[in-house]
Amino acid sequence: MADSSTPTIIKGLEGVYFTETKICKVDGLKGRLWYRGYSIESLAKNSSFEEVSYLILYGRLPKKDELDGFKARLISSMALDNGIVELLKSLNGKMLPMDILRTAVSAMPAFSEKKVYQNDSEEHIAESIEIIGRIAGVVATIGAMMNNLGYSKPDSSRGIAYNILYMMTGKKPEEKAAKMLDVMMILHAEHSSNASTFSTIVAGSTMADLYSAITAGICALKGPLHGGADEKALDMMKDIGDPNNTEKYIEDALAGKKRIMGFGHRVYKTYDPRAKVIKAYLEDIQNGSTMEVQTLTAIALKAEKLMIDKLGESKGIWPNVDFFSGPVYTYIGIPKSLFTPLFAASRSPGWCAHMLEYWQDNRLIRPLDYYNGQLDIPYTPIDQRK
Ligand code: CMC
Repeated sequence: MADSSTPTIIKGLEGVYFTETKICKVDGLKGRLWYRGYSIESLAKNSSFEEVSYLILYGRLPKKDELDGFKARLISSMALDNGIVELLKSLNGKMLPMDILRTAVSAMPAFSEKKVYQNDSEEHIAESIEIIGRIAGVVATIGAMMNNLGYSKPDSSRGIAYNILYMMTGKKPEEKAAKMLDVMMILHAEHSSNASTFSTIVAGSTMADLYSAITAGICALKGPLHGGADEKALDMMKDIGDPNNTEKYIEDALAGKKRIMGFGHRVYKTYDPRAKVIKAYLEDIQNGSTMEVQTLTAIALKAEKLMIDKLGESKGIWPNVDFFSGPVYTYIGIPKSLFTPLFAASRSPGWCAHMLEYWQDNRLIRPLDYYNGQLDIPYTPIDQRK
């Protein structure tokens, strides 16, 4: 039981600052987001996932030759060692794609020429580039296996988003779909100390290696309160089935105290700026796409309006980055169980950059919990226990 010395306990570490950073700023009240000082809107409009990854890792935009060299290293890392392909094959169909990805990242040092476990900043950048490229290659190959295809090498003249679609399908993707995926990856590339980035840093603060730290990040991303929400939001849209059912579905869910996935955020108390960029794509894909995409889009737009009317201003619950992803990814041709692995591929530059930044002034993360159980209980021998 609590006594007068009970410390203040901040559940979920809400509002707690644990470090300083120059990587990302989220303004949750104004709905603004910047990577290294550049607004998310300007990066989504003008940049590429490779350039944004460089920006996040190195802290500045690359010059042309720097970007070319960086991109070549990323795409070469997307080409998977036969050992990883064999591992993916052995797990295919036996675990969820997100679990296969987690296992593959944890096994990556076995297939790396890098000196893993070295505490050297140049080596960490090299490892980061390898990790970002490899995760993309693994996600694409898991997708290929789901399509009953084998592993394909990436096209070294193209970027990561194009190659994910190319390796998944064995066919050249439409430029529009590849561009959309590129923007989706930019929007997911970084987001301050969210649960997966914090998990990465906690693991790395023990001076575990980068691969272990990123594996911890992937574990935290999986849950539906974080990265897994995009899959659950699509499940909900499919359950609703018809735009005319949306209102009753949302009302019943809220009356039953259920959460509507893809809404609400620990930091944003207004519209998530990433969701605004994705919503603009919905308007673009509404016409001329399949019936499935048109129905999902109509349901998403109706649910958005209803939720904002009910909970927007009154409770600060607005669409987040995960809400509109389902119709967009479905349009691009990505199966639902790859949404969260793709989120991981997109977030990997953010995880790596935060880990490298934290290591510059590392301090073991070790908070306290307040014990409120009994003490000095007399030990009872096993045969006398009731
Ligand atoms: N639908 C309905 N009610 C909600 C929702 C929602 N999606 N989110 C929060 N609430 C309500 C909640 O029931 C609570 O109500 P009350 O005060 O009456 O008990 C109030 O809002 C505060 O909720 P909370 O759980 O204390 O807030 P939190 O800061 O811990 O939650 C959250 C943040 C993201 C876990 C939560 O909003 C949620 O569960 N959302 C759905 C899952 C989701 O979309 N996650 C993706 C987050 S963004 C991308 C990412 O980081 O991965």
